[in-house]
Amino acid sequence: MKAAKTSFACGNCGAIFRKWAGQCPECREWNSIHEQETPPVSPSTGYSGTLSTVQHISQVTLSDSPRIKTGMTELDRVLGGGLVRGSVVLVGGDPGIGKSTCLLQVSCQLSDKNKVLYVTGEESPQQIAMRAKRLRLPDRHLLLMAETQVENICATASVEQPQIMVIDSIQTMQTASTSSAPGSVSQVRESAAQLTQFAKLNNIAIFLVGHVTKTGDIAGPRVLEHIIDVVCYFEGNNDSRYRVMRAVKNRYGAVNELGVFAMTDSGLKEIHNPSAIFLNRYGKPMPGSAVMAIWEGSRPLLVEIQSLVDTSHSENSRRVTVGIDQNRLIMLLAILHRHGGIVSYNQDVFINVAGGVKVSETSADLALALSIISSLEDKPLPADLITFGELGLAGEIRPVPNGQERLKEAVKHGFKKAIIPKANAPLEKIDGLSVFPAEKLTDALEVFYQFPAAQ
Ligand code: TYD
Ligand code: MG
Repeated sequence: MKAAKTSFACGNCGAIFRKWAGQCPECREWNSIHEQETPPVSPSTGYSGTLSTVQHISQVTLSDSPRIKTGMTELDRVLGGGLVRGSVVLVGGDPGIGKSTCLLQVSCQLSDKNKVLYVTGEESPQQIAMRAKRLRLPDRHLLLMAETQVENICATASVEQPQIMVIDSIQTMQTASTSSAPGSVSQVRESAAQLTQFAKLNNIAIFLVGHVTKTGDIAGPRVLEHIIDVVCYFEGNNDSRYRVMRAVKNRYGAVNELGVFAMTDSGLKEIHNPSAIFLNRYGKPMPGSAVMAIWEGSRPLLVEIQSLVDTSHSENSRRVTVGIDQNRLIMLLAILHRHGGIVSYNQDVFINVAGGVKVSETSADLALALSIISSLEDKPLPADLITFGELGLAGEIRPVPNGQERLKEAVKHGFKKAIIPKANAPLEKIDGLSVFPAEKLTDALEVFYQFPAAQ
């Protein structure tokens, strides 16, 4: 008889190999490769399968299910306008960032009108009940269950028939269909796949909580993202009380939509006017500080960026960034040198985006460049100046989308001057705002040097 075929799988990243190795060549984890039996591959049966139905796209019946409002408008915004029935939402983030708190608040609010089942694999029902009591949440109708076996959860849920289910967390779940340890990649993947299938079959919306590992992925690799409808991450640093929730994948709405919250002693509170919190307004304008108008999802956000440019005493000058891509900074320094004559090879450059915000948009270029020059020249930018625009390698300032809305947001927050790409200049004058349109980096520098030094 032929021996059963075996292969070797990494318990951390799920990669499959033909040979054992001490270190996984994919994820570099040690001692994570274990032998497993390869399921027999059924021989090809040719075209003897049964026929599936094919229909025209216009004939597909659309069930008209309105989105369920979660009661938190910031979360609804991230979800693309509310929770969709039968969808699976993964909420990821560092331990202690506030995932359980957020979902408990949402579940309590939702349980008023919907049947909600909160499945906990980490905390005891007593701990959860205590938290709900302390936060004074409307918890009268919320159903709790302490369970980690996926089969039991699905069996209970098909009897209880909740409309919404929370699984806290997916790392604690296990299923009998795979024999690997709880928390391992195959358990997490298999459990998530079963729960997703259950959600689709029964039209139940499920929130899955997922812890982020030290490499920043949910459960090691991004094994879950392709089976789940909405993936959002809770971000924020531990010393700041602000938390940002960002959708990185959304089958029902825009990605990179941002929800802003503050963690207070009475739970998570929504911040409806986030621009106000990311502006670090001191009494006096400081050199190296610039305010930019970035675009997040479907709304503008005013954020302060700070630079510190200081003489370097080592052979290799340092370029340190927090909240912005380091390569972008290196590129901007090269543009500043080549097209603006600004020398920084003998300077250490440190960049920080206020409030722990991560900026990935190129419209931050101009603000970053101006803040570097401001620090280098030790000359503050006017406190009421807003700026945005992308810098091209030829020293040109490129337009960015939604220029008008960014300017309107700036005016709303009392800004009176704006250096912006020429192509974004408004056709009609905006009341109370002096616009300095710039076509090239040199135009923007000219405006900067014209501002009075002492203010
Ligand atoms: P939690 O939701 O348990 O985090 P996660 O589920 O993401 O691991 O949040 C725990 C943190 O939030 C903890 O450090 C304390 C803080 N917290 C508050 O500051 N205020 C509160 O009202 C609550 C409930 C938690
Ligand atoms: Mg938790």
